Amino acid sequence: MSRVFITGSADGLGKMAAQLLVQEGHSVVLHARNDARAKEAMAGVPGAEAVVIGDLSSVQQTRDVADQVNAVGAFEAVIHNAAVGYREGRRIQTEDGLPHVFAVNTLAPYILTGLIRKPKRLVYLSSGLHQQGDDSLKDLLWQHRSWQGTQAYSDSKLHDVLLAFAVARLRPDVFSNAVEPGWVATKMGGPSATDDLDQGHRTQVWLAVSDDPQARVSGEHFYHMRRRTPKAATRDVAVQNKLLDECRRLSGVDLEALIASPAR
Ligand SMILES: NC(=O)c1ccc[n+]([C@@H]2O[C@H](COP(=O)([O-])OP(=O)(O)OC[C@H]3O[C@@H](n4cnc5c(N)ncnc54)[C@H](OP(=O)(O)O)[C@@H]3O)[C@@H](O)[C@H]2O)c1
Repeated sequence: MSRVFITGSADGLGKMAAQLLVQEGHSVVLHARNDARAKEAMAGVPGAEAVVIGDLSSVQQTRDVADQVNAVGAFEAVIHNAAVGYREGRRIQTEDGLPHVFAVNTLAPYILTGLIRKPKRLVYLSSGLHQQGDDSLKDLLWQHRSWQGTQAYSDSKLHDVLLAFAVARLRPDVFSNAVEPGWVATKMGGPSATDDLDQGHRTQVWLAVSDDPQARVSGEHFYHMRRRTPKAATRDVAVQNKLLDECRRLSGVDLEALIASPAR
């Protein structure tokens, strides 16, 4: 049995993944943005081991989430699930001066990947919309473009695949993969979503804990437990490195140095 940490597990696919993992006998640590959501997360996943708390739109709180996770011990798998969707109608600025979507969907998983002690498996939730992401990585902070919520979300989901593949390259001893769960009727997906909600959480659970040889791979992109070809730029090491450089500059967390450090 494995020990798994899931970001954004108070609701949606994160909560569903946590429930399935607990049912299967795994130990699960949840994550929620604040105390009230943490109580709801624990009530929604009976049998979960613990919950850590922090708002991932804040660099400081995200660092604190990593400290809390490390304090509860080592994990076999981390599922980077938390995100905000494509419906933000304007550029919402975080306390760090970043666009909210970028802070939660791109920078937080980068920071947590660097600061949480190395698990055996990492899963990053992306989306089919990553195909529309801007692989020039120009204007990540939306200072020069006019705001478009769907484009900002698509960019962030491209970043998640780039991050998964960069980590797969830099950490050959860890399985690091990306998942698109389909358009499903969670809070984010909304009631018109057309894909099968019951399939939306299974691939990330499978990648996190299964002994199936098809799940014990790295640097792949999945949809419904099958490999799916991601946008070509996600394989481009120069684009991956550009994202890592920008995230290092914006967060002060040096993921590559942390990965190279023997202590981790
Ligand atoms: N649903 C879809 O159709 C779809 C399609 C493609 C990809 N995805 C991806 O699947 C993943 C899960 O999405 P979902 O549909 O389950 O979304 P969801 O129902 O909106 O759940 C998102 C979770 O992330 C948490 N979260 C958001 N911002 C946070 C913050 N600043 N700090 C801490 N936690 C935060 C939310 O907390 P609260 O509940 O407190 O808000 C919630 O628990 C995301 O990465 C998404 O991009 C979803």
